[in-house]
Amino acid sequence: SLFCHSLLFTSLPTAPKTFTFSPCPPSTSSAHCRYPLGMEDGRIKNDDITASSQWYETTGPQYARLNHEEGDGAWCPAGQLQPSDVQYLQLDLRQLIFLTVVATQGRYARNSGNEFARKYRLEYSRDGHHWISWRNRFGSEILMANINTYDSVVRDLHPPIITQFLRLIPVTDAVHTVCMRVELFGCAWQDGLTAYSSPEGQTMMAPGYPITSLNDSTYDGALERRKLSGGLGQLTDGVIGQDDLVQRRQDQLWPGYDYVGWRNDSLGPGYVEMEFQFDRQRNFTSMKVHSNNMFSRGVKIFASVSCVFKLHLISEWEAEPVEFHTVLDDRNPSARYVTVPLKHRSATALRCRFYFADTWMMFSEISFQSGMNLEQLASPSHWPPVLTPPSYELNSKVPQTTQKTGKSHTSILIGCLVTIILLLVVIIFLILWCRYVCKVLEKAPRRILEEEVTVRLSSSSDTIILQTPPVPPRVSLDPPYERIFLLDPQYQDPAALRNKLPELSQSAEASACSGGYAEPDVTLCTPHQCFQSSVPHYAETDIISLQGVTGSNMYAVPALTVDSLTRKEISVAEFPRERLLFREKLGEGQFGEVHLCEAEGLAEFLGEGALLPEQDGRPVLVAVKQLRADATSNARNDFLKEIKIMSRLNNPNIIQLLCVCVCVSSDPLCMVTEYMENGDLNMFLSQREIESTLTHANNIPSVSIADMLHMSVQISSGMKYLASLNFVHRDLATRNCLLDRHLTIKISDFGMSRNLYSSDYYRIQGRAVLPIRWMAWESILLGKFTTASDVWAFGVTLWEIFTLSKEQPYSLLSDEQVIENTGEFFRNQGRQIFLSAPPLCPSSLFELMMRCWSRDIADRPTFHRLNKESNIMDR
Ligand code: ADE
Repeated sequence: SLFCHSLLFTSLPTAPKTFTFSPCPPSTSSAHCRYPLGMEDGRIKNDDITASSQWYETTGPQYARLNHEEGDGAWCPAGQLQPSDVQYLQLDLRQLIFLTVVATQGRYARNSGNEFARKYRLEYSRDGHHWISWRNRFGSEILMANINTYDSVVRDLHPPIITQFLRLIPVTDAVHTVCMRVELFGCAWQDGLTAYSSPEGQTMMAPGYPITSLNDSTYDGALERRKLSGGLGQLTDGVIGQDDLVQRRQDQLWPGYDYVGWRNDSLGPGYVEMEFQFDRQRNFTSMKVHSNNMFSRGVKIFASVSCVFKLHLISEWEAEPVEFHTVLDDRNPSARYVTVPLKHRSATALRCRFYFADTWMMFSEISFQSGMNLEQLASPSHWPPVLTPPSYELNSKVPQTTQKTGKSHTSILIGCLVTIILLLVVIIFLILWCRYVCKVLEKAPRRILEEEVTVRLSSSSDTIILQTPPVPPRVSLDPPYERIFLLDPQYQDPAALRNKLPELSQSAEASACSGGYAEPDVTLCTPHQCFQSSVPHYAETDIISLQGVTGSNMYAVPALTVDSLTRKEISVAEFPRERLLFREKLGEGQFGEVHLCEAEGLAEFLGEGALLPEQDGRPVLVAVKQLRADATSNARNDFLKEIKIMSRLNNPNIIQLLCVCVCVSSDPLCMVTEYMENGDLNMFLSQREIESTLTHANNIPSVSIADMLHMSVQISSGMKYLASLNFVHRDLATRNCLLDRHLTIKISDFGMSRNLYSSDYYRIQGRAVLPIRWMAWESILLGKFTTASDVWAFGVTLWEIFTLSKEQPYSLLSDEQVIENTGEFFRNQGRQIFLSAPPLCPSSLFELMMRCWSRDIADRPTFHRLNKESNIMDR
């Protein structure tokens, strides 16, 4: 439940010795962000625990650690506590934390203590200067605490606190001696948002409905002239609002409690302007806005949003905004997350104008997904506090804080030196070993994947937790209190992982030797040189990956296949460029554009047997992919390879290359494919509802379960064909499936989707762009792309189909957390987060999806099997 739980523990779970705070999932929820922050295990250092006063040195703040008995067993403020006293224990958490739980104990002191705090209150500060008193949702500051010296009393904070500094202030009604030991629970506040400002929320009054106050009732900043500023509140408390805002949940104080809402006509300009301030400069990928859409009451998500950015606190707002238009929906009244791509803009502050689509606009949560650039990651100021476990002095009666600090500094120094020496030894060893391996592998083409670098950078945290319940039976849900998780202290990095996976190790080793991307040398490598696969039925393509010139991966093929394909001459006809008449732009990517063109006389040009749609006397429409005039020679070569490969693909569920324009060297290269009138499957589904009597009666565009099953069959059929040729697609997703006028699906990858769907891709420092939410763990961790990793992506594609593309996979996880989840898939200790079963999805199909996400490649179905099983379901 949302409101204060309390629980007595004789002892809390022991916290592990881990050196980072666990990150919060986007839109962090109290239910899942419950990690011990390090009082008990010493990650919070003595220096960061201070107090307004202490009775003796043996009851100083450093003795306030839960379940510890050093000194005289607890922190005790000086003298007896008076009801009017404000004595506090202060903790500096060194970074912003989403704090959800506080546990307290009294002074037990091996059964000789007698003191405990019956009540306490909290003050917090994000900057160390401005202190705010915490209040629960009813406005009370008091938390009930201990009734004896030994039990831990655990209190949930509703609302949670986002803070770096915290003061615990014991409260008493009569004169008492009080002593306290504490532990805090929560996780790192990864959004980095330190304040938002907005117009004050308003009240909705309509005949026949309860009065609905849509104010930000937990906002901790200032309210002046109807404007909130300088604080955080309900939009960052991790509680999302219900679909029906009038309905009142048991734990809500009033209807619509979770929402902050504004009425269009009361604000004048037709938009709500909000400003967001962050702890430091960040590189923003997206903003997620949880928004109500109860259109029957005049509430809709915003029609569009325009954000401007400020790089530094003192700089001007940059002129160029990022704008985003939503697809409005007056059919489905569900509240939803709207994801706004922020195009990797760097900023410390954002100002966004959310434009009304109807009379009301209501948000319950706003979260930001941002990355850091490599310089920031490398800079010591970014590193999480390295919290060395304290050296407890069990029998020291008067421990000198200064002495302890001196000691710990020396040990840190020694530790650092030893680590550096060890690192140097490891590096030397690796260099020698690498030379040896390189010799053995004899010039096999190698590349180190940038993905690996990312994973190393991002897998330092041991575990992640998600807001949506993981899917049974793989992951079980704990009762709320067991969710004060233990972190796994073991850090397994991908390098260690490689050693553990003999079947994966060779290619990765080969990659490691190259030290960078190499142009694939198709003549030097055979699959047997590069792999010793234990799973022979899959094609493996670490060997070569063709980057589609317009930014796509294009199909990656084993070396021999490419070799044979590329050696042959192009078997596709050259079409006179002047007969392509431009109609409109369909999309664009990094290296080119796709245009809709009329192709004059194409039917005659291609002759009988050409697979062209019926013309009915109308001009033939085609999609023309064109390389930018200023493309590099590498991009040009890749484009030509792509043409050669595509010219050999011929299947009803694969996009068909019709002709090319490559002969006049002064003109940009073009490839001409069939035009798919119904666009991509992602867009197609997201604009439809599930078929029902309602959709029929109101003429609402819809799809049935049978339609979805038929789509699945078609995609599996196209993929079966690619797999039979040992082609690995590497970017299978609904955005890369196109629909023709008869709703036949054809798999494509024009790379253009990367602009339109940029938030589906994870950019590694402006270089590789990866569809991580669709990628198998071994592709992310080891750069290993195979038909089996296509099978994984097929599972995600099925999931997209059955969620009607209304949600991005793992929408509640940031990109970094998706990568961390990948580590959990590898570790396979039941902590990996699976996509949950879409409500519309037949259970047998969801089981099929789950098999696609098997950890072991051999356990994943083949496309042959997938096609067979989906065909059976389709019948
Ligand atoms: N966008 C990219 N390729 C396309 C195609 N072949 N048809 C329609 N839209 C497209």
